[in-house]
Amino acid sequence: MSYWPAHDPSSKPVAGRTAYLILHNTSEVVTPDAEGREILRFPKGAIVFREGRVLEVGPAADLFRHHPDARPLNANGKLVTPGLVDCHTHMLFGGHRAQEFQLKLAGASYAEIAAKGGGIRSTVRSTAAVKDELLEKSLANRLERWRANGCTTVEVKSGYGLTSAREVRLLELMSGAAIRVPVRVHRTALVLHALPEEFADRRAEFVTEVRDVLLGEIHRRGMASAVDVFCDPVGFTVEECRGVLERAQELGFPIKLHAEQTARAGGALLAAELGARSVDHLECAIDEDWVALAAAGTVGVLLPAAALTLRQRLPDAAAIRATGARVAIATDFNPGTAPAQSLMECAALAGRLCGFTANELLLAVTWNAARALGAEHEVGHLNPGAWGDAVQWECEALEELPYWMPAVRPDTVFMRGADLALPAVERRVWP
Ligand code: NIG
Ligand code: FE
Repeated sequence: MSYWPAHDPSSKPVAGRTAYLILHNTSEVVTPDAEGREILRFPKGAIVFREGRVLEVGPAADLFRHHPDARPLNANGKLVTPGLVDCHTHMLFGGHRAQEFQLKLAGASYAEIAAKGGGIRSTVRSTAAVKDELLEKSLANRLERWRANGCTTVEVKSGYGLTSAREVRLLELMSGAAIRVPVRVHRTALVLHALPEEFADRRAEFVTEVRDVLLGEIHRRGMASAVDVFCDPVGFTVEECRGVLERAQELGFPIKLHAEQTARAGGALLAAELGARSVDHLECAIDEDWVALAAAGTVGVLLPAAALTLRQRLPDAAAIRATGARVAIATDFNPGTAPAQSLMECAALAGRLCGFTANELLLAVTWNAARALGAEHEVGHLNPGAWGDAVQWECEALEELPYWMPAVRPDTVFMRGADLALPAVERRVWP
């Protein structure tokens, strides 16, 4: 017999009530199915969270019957989706490149700016100039801003260090920032991004050092959960990338590539051949690339903010659909090509520029993005067993998400089944 009076909910143990709740009175709950094939819609549906995970999702009447002891939480007639997953960001950097953006608009190409010592190398200098503590806090603030915009899982790449010592520093700062915030952080070591000034005439030596020294150090210290490279005429060749990626795979790292961004150079086919988790950018990819990605199960990640900033075209949704490839959308947040701080805003742009449906866009920023991180069993959907990471939006219908610009704001963001307080997003986050 229970010690607690059966009909007095206020007398139940507090721990039990906070870890066991039923979110109800939604306009609808929408989630990818467990395989990430379709979007399931539960009009006026409910979700039960227990011990941080989703226990059940479905019609509210059924869930109330199955879980009479769960604490009810009213969604006030709002739309509920899984927490979003931003699977591609470079949000650990100092400074900005707003002046360079003006040069781009005046006609200078990405390659011309890079050749003059601008571009990635200028952010490497400004990142080195910021003190550790400030850089770590700035990353934590950015992660909080992402959470306020509905992202509960965020990938962060290194890549503005370039040399081994500076890359290791950035990966260390990432862990420091990650423990300051509730967002789930996936650390990616972007080990071939640009040739560091220190190695200006020693390209082969640099690639060898990354392959034989840096990767081993990152592996030994457990500093990253994936390895990335920039395969492009302004980055590194297919053969340089292949050597580094094969070594990363020998060490057990999943791999990703930035590829087919400023020109089609063969990185997408390399990604498919090596079984990469994702290949990102693809502005210059052709159908053959998408077919290969579909066959390999590699996610194609579109970065609309970067394409817009560099005034490039994005692929057509119908053409991608015909290949059967999985598509994710990410912010690519970085000071050079994508000063974009809202993933939903990027999805709204991709909807318009490519022709994706609301269902496809939700998949692209949840399940498919989780898959690009190898995290689709845990996040990116609200099926039983997934983490209780969800967003209650300031709107009623799924179709509103890619419709409003600026993007619809989250009303409440749940992490591990708890409605944590959100930071104020109007605050300036730059150091
Ligand atoms: O994803 N393409 C390479 N890396 C970034 C840009 C980095 C930069 O310009 O600072 C990107 O677009
Ligand atoms: Fe990028």
